[in-house]
Amino acid sequence: MRITDQNPLLKKLIENVAEVAGYLWERGWAERNAGNISVNISALISGETIGINSHPFVEMTTPYPELASMLFLVTGTGKRMRDLARKPLDNALLIQLNKKGSGYYVLSREKSSDDIFMPTSEFPTHLGIHQMVKRRGSKETVVLHTHATELVALTQIQEYCNQEKLNKLLWGMHPETMVFLPQGIGFVPYVTPGTDDIATESLKVLKKHPIVLWEKHGVFCIGDSIIDTFDNIDIMTKSAKIFFLTRSAGYSPEGLSDKELETLKVIASNF
Ligand code: 13P
Ligand code: ZN
Repeated sequence: MRITDQNPLLKKLIENVAEVAGYLWERGWAERNAGNISVNISALISGETIGINSHPFVEMTTPYPELASMLFLVTGTGKRMRDLARKPLDNALLIQLNKKGSGYYVLSREKSSDDIFMPTSEFPTHLGIHQMVKRRGSKETVVLHTHATELVALTQIQEYCNQEKLNKLLWGMHPETMVFLPQGIGFVPYVTPGTDDIATESLKVLKKHPIVLWEKHGVFCIGDSIIDTFDNIDIMTKSAKIFFLTRSAGYSPEGLSDKELETLKVIASNF
């Protein structure tokens, strides 16, 4: 019996992840295998009841002791978002870390299975973020990475590879960007994807911002639900789109004034 069969909350969560994977593809942010998702599902499953011995075990190079015994849904490396949208459990894994946090059991596969694949190559960043969330005691369960085109395009312009200028621009393009994301976006200068270094740099920035923009690559966003996490990236990208649309029409976007932004900040603080 699959562990999703008798768990309506987990079933719903997987449906929501599939829904968002479809949006990422439709937005054009998920070329080939671009992007990855992980969700901490520990609150949805009683880990003690799972017979882990019949599942494959994978040792990790870096241990995450604070995540010991926790359960995650994580997309597979090389898997496509458009496939995840149709067949989520063929393209993502349900895993449980062992008691030391030094490896994980793949709960969605039997030991004998010949359909074994690895989690995303950005797994170090995902687990590092889940560990940071656990440490600070906040309630985000979702980590979503995608190649949000217009936000990535902004990082091809040196002027906007500067966190302050980037946020002023994005907040100024649409009032709701300040209302929903008053903490703004964090910026990480280019680092090789999939490395521990990019994980370390992202963690520094995510302490203060729910979204981080990786120069010339994509965004990482954390949130309480997969839908809200997607929405936050969508809002930020809308601002970038307005900027480029205005520029393409031959105009320089005016942006909102400091006074207008201050008023919106007050609204955001009462939200
Ligand atoms: P994965 O297929 O390993 O998840 O990689 C996709 C990606 O976007 C890397 O940054
Ligand atoms: Zn990527």
